[in-house]
Amino acid sequence: MKLAKRMKNMKASEIREILKITENPEIISFAGGLPAPELFPIEDIKKINERVLVEDGQKALQYTTTEGYQPLRTWIAKRMEKRLDTNFNEDEILITHGSQQALDLGGKVFLDEEDVVICESPTYLAAISAFKMFGAKFEEISCDDDGMDMDELEKILKSNTKVKLIYVIPDFQNPSGRTWSLERRKKLAELSNQYEIPVIEDNPYGELRFEGEFLPSISAFDKKGYIMCTGTFSKIYCPGYRIGWIAGNKELIRQFILVKQGSDLQCNTMSQITIAKYLEEYDIDKHIEKIRKVYKKRRDLAVHTMEKSFPKVVKFTRPQGGLFAWVELPEYIDAREILKVSLKENIAFVPGGSFYPNGGNENTFRINFSNMQEDRIVDGLTRLGRILYQYIENEV
Ligand SMILES: Cc1ncc(COP(=O)(O)O)c(C=O)c1O
Repeated sequence: MKLAKRMKNMKASEIREILKITENPEIISFAGGLPAPELFPIEDIKKINERVLVEDGQKALQYTTTEGYQPLRTWIAKRMEKRLDTNFNEDEILITHGSQQALDLGGKVFLDEEDVVICESPTYLAAISAFKMFGAKFEEISCDDDGMDMDELEKILKSNTKVKLIYVIPDFQNPSGRTWSLERRKKLAELSNQYEIPVIEDNPYGELRFEGEFLPSISAFDKKGYIMCTGTFSKIYCPGYRIGWIAGNKELIRQFILVKQGSDLQCNTMSQITIAKYLEEYDIDKHIEKIRKVYKKRRDLAVHTMEKSFPKVVKFTRPQGGLFAWVELPEYIDAREILKVSLKENIAFVPGGSFYPNGGNENTFRINFSNMQEDRIVDGLTRLGRILYQYIENEV
């Protein structure tokens, strides 16, 4: 059977493969990017589901518009304005099946074969898969604790005429946990406007800030309508509903609506109405605060344990929010080798190599701290530290 040529670009995600192994409850898994399921508001959802079906059942089970349920879009526009200083109205928001679908639609709207996507190095694995599907190539830009290196970015924008899209995750990045400074946000908006290259600013974790000030979205500094922003209910509510969104200027959103029509017509009506009703009747801020508290505690324990138990030459990020920390081993160590040994001790994580679209950097790995109970975080990272000591030469 002959498959489409694009299938040659696709391979199984390493994370999905590791997640299969971690279904074994004995494994202490720092591998997935899963929220803590014990925090899903199941009782509230039960009540709201019932109410929606009783009061609005016919509407909730019917087809709806491609752009999505209007009260939900209105809530999102207001929330983004409050949190991110954006200026999108409800007509500039498209509801998507998770923010992941927004990335896929972005690929369809912007990318032809051999077009170049500029991204952070490292970047989100499933964004690499989404854009690769359209035959895209990647220019990775180095990052530090303030975000992308703007000089390097400008050099590429000046010299590479194939650049079609910039993809960034400025808040508590997946996988690195890093957050961009205000200056870098402003500069990216300026460069995108100057070189007229669209940006997808992916922001699934922004609400989960444990300390410090919320920072404006990059699109808050956009003067020409080149910057689009995604968001999601996956990490502040639950991922099972698969409801996210993309915001952007009206003309761009119109293009996204056209391609979404060909993909799935619309998002699940019941999910949209249920979430909108929840937002109307329950206190989402209180719920998010509960999540933040739990994740902050887990972040503190993870960082503290790594400080205590990892060899001193091992570097790692200390995220101010989100779900992940990023570990860099000395260059001569391959994190995949460490994973083989640690799996034998029932400890899992994701080797960092897959987060680099052009390869390399096998001495890195990602730690997720949101999905493990506190005692297991300490136990797992302490034992991982012991394994690392076996590999690191001359370390005491
Ligand atoms: C950076 C980033 N973007 C997008 C997504 C997709 O999230 P969802 O489709 O659940 O909204 C994730 C999920 O982990 C992510 O980490």
